[in-house]
Amino acid sequence: MNLKVAVLPGDGIGPEIMEQGVAVLNAIADKFHHQFSYEEALCGASAIDAVGDPFPPETYQVCMRADAVLFAAVGDLRFDNDPKATVRPEQGLLAMRKMLGLFANVRPVATFECLLHKSPLKEELLRGADFVVIRELTGGMYFGEKYQDYDMAYDTDIYTRPEVERILKVAFELAMQRRKHLTVVDKANVMASSRLWRQIAQEMAPHYPEVTTDYMFIDNASMRVLTEPRFFDVVVTENTFGDILTDETSCITGSMGLQPSASLGEHTPLFEPVHGSWPQAAGQNLANPVAQILSAAMLLEHFGLTAEGKLVREAVDASLAANVRTPEIQVEGGAHYGTKEVGAWIVDYILNA
Ligand code: IPM
Ligand code: MN
Repeated sequence: MNLKVAVLPGDGIGPEIMEQGVAVLNAIADKFHHQFSYEEALCGASAIDAVGDPFPPETYQVCMRADAVLFAAVGDLRFDNDPKATVRPEQGLLAMRKMLGLFANVRPVATFECLLHKSPLKEELLRGADFVVIRELTGGMYFGEKYQDYDMAYDTDIYTRPEVERILKVAFELAMQRRKHLTVVDKANVMASSRLWRQIAQEMAPHYPEVTTDYMFIDNASMRVLTEPRFFDVVVTENTFGDILTDETSCITGSMGLQPSASLGEHTPLFEPVHGSWPQAAGQNLANPVAQILSAAMLLEHFGLTAEGKLVREAVDASLAANVRTPEIQVEGGAHYGTKEVGAWIVDYILNA
């Protein structure tokens, strides 16, 4: 298969983990005789520094002419600590999601048997947990009207019927492919936007009679994902709730550095780790490349390259089992492996499989 991939390393640890993500794609291309080509583009703080815009028009063009975008992370401390900054790296990511119409963010939550003890949660509670959070990605408070002056500020959590219908459709259809259980997470006891979500979900549910649909308030869901993670199969929720819930669910896997995601919608699909740019670790060969590598696996699977995706996952599992791990998940006394070494080990495994 020929695939043109837009490569957006971004900021902080982004370039380091991206190097490993691309190396893994190249290993797969070698092994399975595919032609993958890459076009790199700027975004985030590095784009602000270079051209004053966190998502320059040139980057948009690169994304639009690609089959897929592989994205790492954006964000920089200079901006985090400056609430008055008018241009922020995160605006690049948000503009990209909006301009590519990437309304459905798919964030799988799974456990690795050998990492169960790395979770702050009890192992017996986690074993076998396997669900997917579908986060709406181009609406809600992130994009609703905002206002700020010296004394007052607001964000508007706005959703239209078509926006809610299209994301619920993605969720119902995914539930049909999985264990046929959908949990709609909202705050319908307080928020009007949530009541619209719940109303539309109740209208759509009868069209998916095989799917068991239940409704859960976000506060309750925040607890239940930790106390009873095996209850869940597919979870669908609005942008802000989904942002918070998926950092929380990374505790189930044991590290933010293991969580991939796919963002799908109208134009080029995008694959990115759930974690951020960890600027404190930039350039130190410390960051876990696995979330980026698993995002590459999701990219392959998106194009029907199932055996290829499976081999990447197998290679990641094998690296974890062999304790070839970055420091945050290394076993006590285990050897030190950096970003590069973990990536190289996974690449080797793929080439020798
Ligand atoms: C995420 C990130 C982003 C978000 C930030 C970097 C804008 O936290 O992808 O979850 O809030 O969506
Ligand atoms: Mn987030």
